Amino acid sequence: MSKGRVLVTGAAGYIGSHTTVELINAGYDVVGVDNFSNSSPDMLKGIEQITGRPLPFMELDCSDRDQFAKVFERYPDIAASIHFAACKAVGESVQQPLKYFENNLRSLLYLIELSTRDGHGRGIVFSSSCTVYGEPDPENLPISENAPVKPATSPYGRTKQMSEEILHDCVTAYPSLKVIALRYFNPIGAHPSALIGEMPLGVPQNLVPYITQTAAGIRKELRIFGNDYPTPDGTCIRDYIYVCDLAKAHVAAVDRILQVKDSDRYEIFNLGTGTGLSVLELVNHFIQATGVNLPYSYAPRRAGDIVKVWANPEKANKVLGWKAGTPIDDVLRSAWKWEKKVRGIQ
Ligand code: UD1
Repeated sequence: MSKGRVLVTGAAGYIGSHTTVELINAGYDVVGVDNFSNSSPDMLKGIEQITGRPLPFMELDCSDRDQFAKVFERYPDIAASIHFAACKAVGESVQQPLKYFENNLRSLLYLIELSTRDGHGRGIVFSSSCTVYGEPDPENLPISENAPVKPATSPYGRTKQMSEEILHDCVTAYPSLKVIALRYFNPIGAHPSALIGEMPLGVPQNLVPYITQTAAGIRKELRIFGNDYPTPDGTCIRDYIYVCDLAKAHVAAVDRILQVKDSDRYEIFNLGTGTGLSVLELVNHFIQATGVNLPYSYAPRRAGDIVKVWANPEKANKVLGWKAGTPIDDVLRSAWKWEKKVRGIQ
């Protein structure tokens, strides 16, 4: 029996596709929407191959209210939504802030309106980011949900902060609305089947896609941005979380919204492993896990990078009954398997 219908916006995207798989595996009916602005219809085929079922899907732009309304008309049984659809390139957001405010905020406002308009009470799980914490004070590490939110360093980060505030205000205003905001640390890796994974357009900005493209010979070498940071090996520290573990946390969040009647109507959870790894440590894990040669050199610091951040995930562990447990070497092997599959490497 189905556990209910979940709308996934950005279902063809990196985290959206992995979450769609986990929702279906957990017994939910899903309807996916995407405008393919930064994703490919191939991901939908991958989802269908993994789950062995056709995926109800509508190609539409969530920042166009009339288009977005159609999914609620066609699927009046939507019980909760997971809102991934958003622009996410930090650098681009600095150059084109209006694109980020228009797209990311409009789509959220319409989702809230469409979720509450008939007093129906649909839940929303929102994709937020550890970027809201900015550079944490050292005494706040590992960082928990009650650490202060710092002024955003990019319009992208600001849309995440503003979205959380908008959702909080709307929960106060609309008694039928329940929200869980999930603050992701650094999602990496791909589904073990290598049928879905991360598909960056152009030169990757994020570390793991750059590593796998370098290992595949597409990039000459990895440049490690900064080796003079105040960390044990001088490189930045992050909390790298496996995308399939992250996807499962979304299922737990939807379960909580739909099944736990007396939970708070606005909740925030950090999604991380609780362990920080330096860039150099991650690179060494990749080399060790895959046995592949990875040329790298040290380069100047990248503007805007924070020195170190990793999660205290205890709240999610306890309240959601969820834990990110996949060993980092398995995660990195999954990323490499995906890159090889995309490039046709044996
Ligand atoms: C970035 C975004 C964050 C977003 C996340 C999505 C910024 C400031 N933050 O996080 O808001 O949610 O991506 O995954 O952009 N590195 C290298 N060489 C490279 C690429 C990266 O050394 O070629 C280093 C970076 O300096 C950093 C670490 O690898 O120390 C991780 O970088 P990245 O994968 O881009 O993630 P974040 O910057 O942590």
